[in-house]
Amino acid sequence: MAYVNEIKPSDITPESVYRRRRELIGAGLASPLLALAGCSEAKVPVAVNTAKDSPDGFKTLDEKTRFEDVTSYNNFYEFGTGKADPAKNAHSLITDPWIIQVSGEAEVTGAYHLEKFLKDQTVQDRIYRLRCVEGWSMVIPWQGVPLANLLKRFKPTSKAKYVAFTSKADYRQMPGMAYNSIPWPYREGLRMDEAMHPLTLLATGLYGKPMPNQNGAPIRLVVPWKYGFKSIKSIVRIHFSETQPQTSWNMLQPDEYGFYSNVNPAVDHPRWSQASERRIAGTGSKLFADRIATLPFNGYATQVASLYKGMDLRKWF
Ligand code: MTE
Repeated sequence: MAYVNEIKPSDITPESVYRRRRELIGAGLASPLLALAGCSEAKVPVAVNTAKDSPDGFKTLDEKTRFEDVTSYNNFYEFGTGKADPAKNAHSLITDPWIIQVSGEAEVTGAYHLEKFLKDQTVQDRIYRLRCVEGWSMVIPWQGVPLANLLKRFKPTSKAKYVAFTSKADYRQMPGMAYNSIPWPYREGLRMDEAMHPLTLLATGLYGKPMPNQNGAPIRLVVPWKYGFKSIKSIVRIHFSETQPQTSWNMLQPDEYGFYSNVNPAVDHPRWSQASERRIAGTGSKLFADRIATLPFNGYATQVASLYKGMDLRKWF
């Protein structure tokens, strides 16, 4: 099977080439054995990563990715496997009314209209880096509700060790689901302490605007120290469980995608280096900025490394 990372990252920069790459990604991902499309091994010079954040990690001072790039270069397989597909197809997603089911090991459970579910105050301007396992990253200003604030309301019991999330799955609204590219519905999960961490956000919008459909409207997770695929979009179910929940990518390729998926430059994906990345921070026709080193926990080690104390992060990738 041919993978898209046969194109060298140095080839990507001109617009004509990255557009071609988008086509190839689409073609590659439409094949039966699906994989996220990685950049090839970094043999090019890698600059130091000079990421600077506020002490709580809530705001990075890194250059933000442009709104038009954040909303046009997406992974949302329910709308197709090409990077341009979600922006093209996600208009068919109906986001109002939106019901969220809360179930499992909690004293309070039930089905909630989004407005009722979100009664907490929205926080503005969480400016986070989000790094995809494919080797690109973005810097996005989100607004939303810290997940911990929401989860506490449901009074999880002492048996609640994990939180599982499920995306909407509706073949009529989501044309990409016809391809059976990954096990639907898209599902993800966090350990309870990860879910309760102050950096973990349920985002309802970006750049001060309501969440665009292609970015996971009306509500999606953002976990900035983990690879992008943990940040599940268009959530319809939250389930507290005693056991580790199944996750879509782990179900598909367990040797490539672990449950934790913390950004870790020291542990490569079996087919791609994770040591460096390219920011989507270009200007004009240049989509990718120069290659920079990837930081442990995506630069959020000060805030989150203690969650994994004593764990072998090669084993628990
Ligand atoms: N959530 C759902 N439901 N379906 C998806 O295909 N893709 C994931 C994640 N959440 C995905 C998803 C991947 S691989 C990434 S990198 C991020 O969404 C991308 O988020 P963004 O489009 O806002 O950058």
